[in-house]
Formats: sequence, C-alpha cells, structure tokens
Amino acid sequence: MSNLYSDLAEVYEAMYHTFINYLDEYETYSQILEEASKKSVLELGCGTGNLCKYFQEAGFQYQGIDFSPQMIDMAQKKNPQARFSVGDMREFQLGERVSGIFMAGRTISYLLRNPDVNATLSSVWTNLHPGGLFCFDFIDANQFMPSIASGKTIRHEARYQNTDFIRDSTWKIGLENGMDFKWDSIYYRRVGEELVKIGTDNSTIRTFTKDEIEIFLQINQFKLIKMFPRASYAFPTYVAVAEKN
Ligand SMILES: C[S@@+](CC[C@H](N)C(=O)[O-])C[C@H]1O[C@@H](n2cnc3c(N)ncnc32)[C@H](O)[C@@H]1O
Repeated sequence: MSNLYSDLAEVYEAMYHTFINYLDEYETYSQILEEASKKSVLELGCGTGNLCKYFQEAGFQYQGIDFSPQMIDMAQKKNPQARFSVGDMREFQLGERVSGIFMAGRTISYLLRNPDVNATLSSVWTNLHPGGLFCFDFIDANQFMPSIASGKTIRHEARYQNTDFIRDSTWKIGLENGMDFKWDSIYYRRVGEELVKIGTDNSTIRTFTKDEIEIFLQINQFKLIKMFPRASYAFPTYVAVAEKN
C-alpha cells in the first residue's frame, strides 16, 4: 500500500484538505445518485471519510470502505455514527446490497492490473441492487500521459492549521500495466526557513482512456450512462456513471 495512506495518513489528511474541494465532490456524486433516487450508498476508497457528513446530512444511508486501517481509523473518529470498514475493493461483500456505489479522488488509479479492475467491477456488480449506479472518476490517459512523456517535476504546497506542507514529486512514464506512471515524492514541513523532511512515497498510478473504461464496464455487465470531464486538482479527470445491467 502507498506510504501516503499509511505512515503519511495524517499528512494526506492535512494536504488534501486544501487540494480537494470535498463539498464540490459531494455535490457532483450526490446529484447523480439523488436524481436516480439511490439513497443507500457505499464509498469505495473513502480515505479519511471527508464526504461522509455531507451524505448523512442529506439523508443518504452512507457507508465507507478503504484498504488502509489508518485512513479508516481517522474516518471513524471524524464520523463516529457512520459505518466504516477496512476492506479491499477487489473483493468485498456487504451485509445488504446498496443502490449506489461511488469512488472519488481517482481511487481507480490504484487498480494497476486488468484483473484488479475486473475484480472490482465484479464486486461492485454483486453488491448493487439491479439498476444500481456505479460512479467513479479516473485520470484521462490521453491528456495526462503525453504531458509527462519526458518526465516532469512538480511542487505542491498546502497550508493547513497553520502548518505549511510541501511535496516535491517526479512523474515518469511507467507503462508496465497499461497507461501507468511512476510517482515518487518527498514530503516536507516548513519550520522557519527550513524544509524538514517528513517522509517519502513511491507509487505507481494508472490512468485510463475513455475507451478502456467503456470496455471494462461493458464486459462486466454495466451500461455506461454518461462520462463527463470534471475540473480537479493536478490531473485531467473524467467521471463515469454506469448502471448495473
Ligand atoms: C486518492 S485516495 C482518495 C481518498 C478519498 N476518496 C479522498 O478523496 O480523500 C485513494 C484511497 O484509496 C484507497 N485504496 C487504494 N487501494 C484500495 C483497494 N484495493 N481497496 C480499497 N481502498 C483502496 C487508499 O487507501 C486511499 O485511501
């Protein structure tokens, strides 16, 4: 598992609060689910549970699953009344089926091999009611991969609760399992004029073409309802909405 979601989970929580507009993310997914009257929902890769309170306040029955015990621990502390569990999106089994499953923050990027994608879609299918919706976002390979063809270094800065965090990253084409790239990063905290190293993360991240997503959905008995671009931090992103056939 990525260090960012284990040893650096507290740093993730701090930095991503400034990178991701969680209210806007909630509005995107809740509108799709609400319009289709899907009120029992599961968030896969829920991280530290930042969307939970919005869904609960709007009357959804919300539950979350994440691979990382550290992320789930923080999610549960923040939302003591909600149901969170440690689990793998490639093989999970809910007590009861739900009417909507969503996955935000480009979490699909961690499904590196095609069998991981198929296993996840199969688990999602099994845990949805007939006609249930699956919504998720992904990094658009067509836009992103050419932009890092010769490698790219990038600095992200975030100020959270009076602390400055800095992340220096390098992105390099990987292409080991589809359209993936290597993301190596060093995290720092600013103390006076100094950057104090907090930790490192070395991840492989998978991007997808729109065609790939469409094929994966079709062969796993989902009907693609719509796919639309959504402005988001760092990566060109599309959201897909699919219905269980
Ligand atoms: C980019 S973060 C997004 C977290 C949260 N949705 C947010 O936007 O803040 C990706 C999350 O996916 C989780 N994850 C990665 N692989 C997973 C898997 N196989 N099953 C469940 N969760 C997974 C990570 O632990 C991490 O919390």
